[in-house]
Amino acid sequence: MPPRRTRKLANPITITFEGKPLEAEAGSSVAAALVGAGDLALARSSKFHRPRGPHCMRGGCDGCLVRIDGVPNVMACNTTAREGMRVERQNVVGVGDVDLLRATDWFFKKGINHHELLTGVPGVQKVMVSFARRISGLGELPDEPRAPRDAIGQRSVDVLVVGGGPAGLAAARGTARRGLSTLLLDEQPEPGGCLRSFPPGARASFEATDGGVDVDTLLASLVAQTRAAGAELLPRATALGVLEGFDWLIEVEGQGLLRVNARAHVLATGAHDPSPDFAGNEIPGVMSARAAGRLLREGVLLGEQVLVAGAGPYASAFAEAAAAERARVSVMALADVVEVHGLSTVTGATVLTPLGREQRIDCDAVVVEAPPAPSFELASEAGAEIVHSSAGFSPRMAEDGRIARKGGARPLFAIGEGTGASLSPAGFSAAAERLADAIARELSGGR
Ligand code: FES
Repeated sequence: MPPRRTRKLANPITITFEGKPLEAEAGSSVAAALVGAGDLALARSSKFHRPRGPHCMRGGCDGCLVRIDGVPNVMACNTTAREGMRVERQNVVGVGDVDLLRATDWFFKKGINHHELLTGVPGVQKVMVSFARRISGLGELPDEPRAPRDAIGQRSVDVLVVGGGPAGLAAARGTARRGLSTLLLDEQPEPGGCLRSFPPGARASFEATDGGVDVDTLLASLVAQTRAAGAELLPRATALGVLEGFDWLIEVEGQGLLRVNARAHVLATGAHDPSPDFAGNEIPGVMSARAAGRLLREGVLLGEQVLVAGAGPYASAFAEAAAAERARVSVMALADVVEVHGLSTVTGATVLTPLGREQRIDCDAVVVEAPPAPSFELASEAGAEIVHSSAGFSPRMAEDGRIARKGGARPLFAIGEGTGASLSPAGFSAAAERLADAIARELSGGR
């Protein structure tokens, strides 16, 4: 069964998808609007146009790239649906949902290794390579040249916090409480970060001793405390990078570019959902538990027969919420998934039974939770020394959260999952106090 909406639209607006009108919830992401209308195969791979679907719902994969109002390669998961918006698929050799290259799915059922494709037949391989080069890429040029983005101003603050999840909120609360002017920015329409990846009403256990926490209450209290401390929260704002002089260039959705000069910087950029390492992990309908939870929060259920693979707070919260929506849910260890089947949608999976035998089961969606990988890219751009550990790549960091950085005098700190730490709101709160003390000391000249 295709995905479905779990509730009626409260404030419907109309967008078009492939020329057809489609109702969406005002303020929801374009991806939630399209998936809620039953469409999962939103994108195509750049070389052989194999169907791709949203995997992360947080701007970290390429499964939701579409053309919006004539602009290619827009992430549907990070774009808010607006009345009259024109959404189209891209990378299609054919029309709409019919891509002639789908024929490759039948010719090469086990996938394509394009490095070795037809290498034994020199003439044919040459033709194939030139064909692949012609059709590969990501969409077509925009309908019109993009107008320069408006500069909407320049801000100076004591502390800039990038990322509005539990770690970023705690850090902003800590520095604001110490009397430092603090600006926190986040890409999403509302702060909360990974806590917004839990379905509404979820309870989750973050520490061995917490016995289960109501996530919405935790989220509301963190946001309220941060605001009450005096920090300014700027939503739909993406840190594009660091400029000369260590100012940050920020894009505020629908407004333009903002330049922020801060005396100290805190990166709370969270973590990415890794791709699971089973065959068929790229089939639309295979999604991270965080993404599936975020979709449920936007009122969209991924499937009616869902295989939930992996242990962790997101997977269990999703499994419980999906079952409450009357989906048939099977839960198993990630290592027991051998292969997922399907072409543009999931049709089943081969899994290991408790006796170690392979068995094919029916399912129309696969939701996975694997250990996340720190999102270290901004830290690297800001000049941090990046190290590798069992958690992945992350910035080298001192006990107080300070990041070692080549050159420059502006203090740079990091906190949360982006440093390789596990999700722990209480742990992040304690780390935020240490970090805020260190920043306050630094900015007062060490007094
Ligand atoms: S980037 Fe949009 S779903 Fe991953």
